[in-house]
Amino acid sequence: MRTQVAIIGGGPSGLLLSQLLHRAGIDTVVLERQSRDYVLGRIRAGVLEWGAVEMLREAGVGKRVDAEGLPHDGTYIATRNRGFRIDFRRHTGQQVMVYGQTEVTRDLYAARDAMDGKVIHGVEGVTIHGADTDAPHVTYTLDGTGHRLDCDFVAGCDGFHGVSRKTIPASVLKEFERVYPFGWLGVLSETPPVSHELIYAQHERGFALCSMRHAALARYYVQVPLTDKAEDWSDDAFWAELKRRIPADAAETLITGPSIEKSIAPLRSFVAEPMRWGRLFLVGDAAHIVPPTGAKGLNLAVSDVHYLYHGLVQHYQGEDEGIDRYSERALARVWKSERFSWSMTTLLHTFPERNAFEHRMQEAELDYLESSDAAQASLAENYVGLPY
Ligand code: APR
Ligand code: PHB
Repeated sequence: MRTQVAIIGGGPSGLLLSQLLHRAGIDTVVLERQSRDYVLGRIRAGVLEWGAVEMLREAGVGKRVDAEGLPHDGTYIATRNRGFRIDFRRHTGQQVMVYGQTEVTRDLYAARDAMDGKVIHGVEGVTIHGADTDAPHVTYTLDGTGHRLDCDFVAGCDGFHGVSRKTIPASVLKEFERVYPFGWLGVLSETPPVSHELIYAQHERGFALCSMRHAALARYYVQVPLTDKAEDWSDDAFWAELKRRIPADAAETLITGPSIEKSIAPLRSFVAEPMRWGRLFLVGDAAHIVPPTGAKGLNLAVSDVHYLYHGLVQHYQGEDEGIDRYSERALARVWKSERFSWSMTTLLHTFPERNAFEHRMQEAELDYLESSDAAQASLAENYVGLPY
């Protein structure tokens, strides 16, 4: 089989890239290890930067997010039983859209189906060959039979655990990492969200977040030690802990119910450089991970897709500047989002190893954010998304 762009991974990065390229007349094949149901079963963050919403519209998948997404003008930061609001609209003139990543993925699959896009599920043993030559190809097995896919380019959209990044020789690839000493225990419940905007709560017992998917589906998180197991947390224990960490007025009005999903995710910051090796490009989680504080994971995947999509379209029009500068452009934005996610995480979490000085620094940082318009403007600018 032959295609122009072989895409490894059918998560949001791979599907969005495939959809945009197809609309530009560029042929792709997406190779996904898992079944579609498995991919759609993963619960991830739910806040889209406005630029990401515009990309979805450009890809022809903006209809449902525009109809069902919840535009938010601001967010609450709570600390020591006080809360203050960061007004995105006043500081930046922009909003964010609350809409689950699972729904984005569902919309992308529907769009790929409608265009007869080639998404092959259940592939095993994907191997990238000749990425540093002019004629790369990918081999894989499907139902026990070996296949070969020849292509002009390979887009590595296969997430943190994929094969694409590992294909780049260790002598070329540099990796940067911080692993945080805690995780987030997340609960999805069919209850009305406690607040119409998100609440990011700093508390000495640990961070908590009140988020939502829509008017009848709430998403909450509490910081937990990495040694905790989700099955050891009863729903009652979760609600009690959440209530302790959020402001009293929110705790009093919180409506609880049975959890329909409960899981623990570790927190990590990670960047691999460069994001291009020959004709292989890394996109999204394959190249970088952010801790979820600030919800930048999917948004960064979308900005990578933006740069690569435009670069590939230019290439087929005879101009290589876009693909030649892909890694540099993508990384410039990645590092700024890494900085923001790391600083939000540092500001709002309880770190077991912090000393008394570092505690005071955290308090001073929060006081500064509460009292300074400039600090709030900076948070707002990053939260709604830096320009592409
Ligand atoms: N072969 C084929 N497919 C693979 C392989 C492989 N060897 N390894 C992984 N995959 C698939 C995974 O099954 C997954 O569906 O690649 C896909 C990668 O999807 P994601 O992990 O969702 O990564 P990405 O598409 O870059 O999405 C960006 O935003 O909120 C964040 O971390 C969140 O998923 C997230 C992301
Ligand atoms: C979520 O709704 O899952 C969510 C929202 C904001 C974050 C992280 C996760 O910063």
